[in-house]
Amino acid sequence: MKEQQDLAIFLEHVTKSFGEKHVLRDVSLPICKGEAVCLLGRSGTGKSVTLKLMISLLKPDQGHVWIGKEDISRLERDDLSRVRRRIGFLFQSGALFDSLNLHDNLALPMIRMTDKSKPEIEETVHQVLSEVGLANDGQTMPADLSGGMRKRAGLARALALEPEILLVDEPSSGLDAITASEIDELLLHRKIQERTTLVIVTHDPHGARRIGDRFAVLEQGSLIAFGTAQELEEHRNQVVRNLMAEC
Ligand SMILES: Nc1ncnc2c1ncn2[C@@H]1O[C@H](COP(=O)(O)OP(=O)(O)OP(=O)(O)O)[C@@H](O)[C@H]1O
Ligand SMILES: [Mg+2]
Repeated sequence: MKEQQDLAIFLEHVTKSFGEKHVLRDVSLPICKGEAVCLLGRSGTGKSVTLKLMISLLKPDQGHVWIGKEDISRLERDDLSRVRRRIGFLFQSGALFDSLNLHDNLALPMIRMTDKSKPEIEETVHQVLSEVGLANDGQTMPADLSGGMRKRAGLARALALEPEILLVDEPSSGLDAITASEIDELLLHRKIQERTTLVIVTHDPHGARRIGDRFAVLEQGSLIAFGTAQELEEHRNQVVRNLMAEC
């Protein structure tokens, strides 16, 4: 296993329950700097919960969530904000501010969290909206966007902050095949050009194969496999082999 200094994210023996419902059981997942890990598993197995733990929107009941050398689950206020600034997050729903148009949805986090000048912010907004194919939609309100457009807008907002770590929850769900593969290219570009660490929850086998360096499989709250495509294709567990066969 890699030394901890090579790790961007390290879930260490993480357990998470909601009341009686045990969602994650003793999950350990080391993710290296600059690698892309795809998180696979059936609906309700805890993939979104895992991403939310990585940015401390949820806290583990037991275990640690390391971002570099810092246990994000134990940080508060200013320290938490400082570490979160390094992380971009695309929610499964897109999670835009409904009262702001697209342009302002992107500009607001940059105004709050960076020391970019107004012209720099304008340029970044234009650049990332173009990257996700929404260059002409800056003035559009979220309510007037399709589901796929919301998703792309959410991704644009995460990209605008140039995060070291990008956590994306089902980036291509609700998108047509062409747009989905454009989003895959965009993520791949960030990984290669910026060495961004990516954690991608996906049900899209084609995209997973294209982007993922390693694949983590959750099943009933346990991490049942973690490895390269080839390793998982040869895995002893049939569930894992079936999942990879779909990829
Ligand atoms: N805040 C919460 N309070 C209570 N239960 C929750 C909460 N968040 C998630 N859960 C439960 O945890 C389980 C895992 O949810 P999660 O959203 O991580 O699933 P998922 O693997 O992302 O599924 P999908 O593929 O459908 O998005 C579900 O049973 C869900 O109901
Ligand atoms: Mg989910």
